[in-house]
Amino acid sequence: MAIKKVCVLGAGLMGSGITQVCAQAGYQVAMRDIEQRFVDGGMNIIKKNLSREVEKGKRTQADMDALLGRIKPTVDMKEAATDADVIVEVIIELLEVKKKVFQELETIVKPECLFFSNTSGVSITAMAAVTKRPDKFIGTHFFNPVPVMKLLEIIKGYETSEETLKIALEWGKSLGKETIVVNEAPAFAVNRILCPMLNEAFFVLGEGIANAKDIDTGMVLGGRQVPACADAGEACARGPLRPQERQGRV
Ligand SMILES: NC(=O)c1ccc[n+]([C@@H]2O[C@H](COP(=O)([O-])OP(=O)(O)OC[C@H]3O[C@@H](n4cnc5c(N)ncnc54)[C@H](O)[C@@H]3O)[C@@H](O)[C@H]2O)c1
Repeated sequence: MAIKKVCVLGAGLMGSGITQVCAQAGYQVAMRDIEQRFVDGGMNIIKKNLSREVEKGKRTQADMDALLGRIKPTVDMKEAATDADVIVEVIIELLEVKKKVFQELETIVKPECLFFSNTSGVSITAMAAVTKRPDKFIGTHFFNPVPVMKLLEIIKGYETSEETLKIALEWGKSLGKETIVVNEAPAFAVNRILCPMLNEAFFVLGEGIANAKDIDTGMVLGGRQVPACADAGEACARGPLRPQERQGRV
C-alpha cells in the first residue's frame, strides 16, 4: 500500500514536527488536536520553523506556501482520519487516553489504514490489542526536534506484520530519516541506553566531581558522544558500540 494521506493526531511539540516533515516530503497531512488553540499553536511552530529557513535562504517563499498548502489543520477527528492511509498518534503519554483514541479511530478509518504511534515508552502491543488491526500497528519514535533529528526508531509489537514494518521503513526513508528497528521492550532501545547515561551525568555533577561544561566536553571528546543535533552520519560513526565492534566484542 502506498501512503498518500497522513493523519497526525496531536499538534504539540512532536506532532507539529512530524506534520512538518511529512508535508515537506510531499504528503497531504491532516493535523488534528482537541482544541483550536492547540491546532493553532502547532501551525505557528511549523510557520516559525519554515520562515526561519526562508530568511536564511534555505527555502523559497513559494516552497513554504506549497508546503503549508499540504497541511489541513483541524479539530474534527472524522475529517482528519476518514480517508487517511496512516494515522500517526502523537498525543499525551497516557495509555488509557491513547487506547480510547485508537478505539474511536476503528469506527472511522478505512480497513487498510495503518496505525503508527510516536510513544516514548507505552507498550505498542498493549495499544494494538484494543484495535482490530494489531498486525497494522507499529511504533514510530521520532526525536526532538523532529525536522532536525535524523533518527526514527521503529518498534515492532508482538503482532506487527512484516508488511507494516516494510511500509513504515519506506515512509521513514521518504521523510529523510535514518531508521533502526527494535522489538517491543520498556523504553525501547535508544532511551533505555541514553537514560542511565544521563542519570550518571547528573550524579557526577551533583557529587561535585566535575562541572556541566567539563562533563559535556569529556563525553563528546572522550566518551564518543555527540551533541544532540549533530549530523546523523557522524552520530552513527561515533555510536557507543562502534569501537566494541571494531575490537570484535560485538
Ligand atoms: N517531547 C519529546 O521529546 C518526545 C520525543 C519522542 C516522543 N514523544 C512522545 O510524543 C507524544 C507527544 O508528545 P509531545 O511532547 O508532542 O506532547 P505535547 O504535550 O506537546 O503534545 C501533545 C498534544 O496532544 C494533544 N492531545 C491530547 N489528547 C488528544 C486527543 N485525544 N486527540 C488529539 N490530540 C490530543 C494535546 O492537546 C497536545 O497538544 C507522547 O507520546 C510523547 O511521549 C515526545
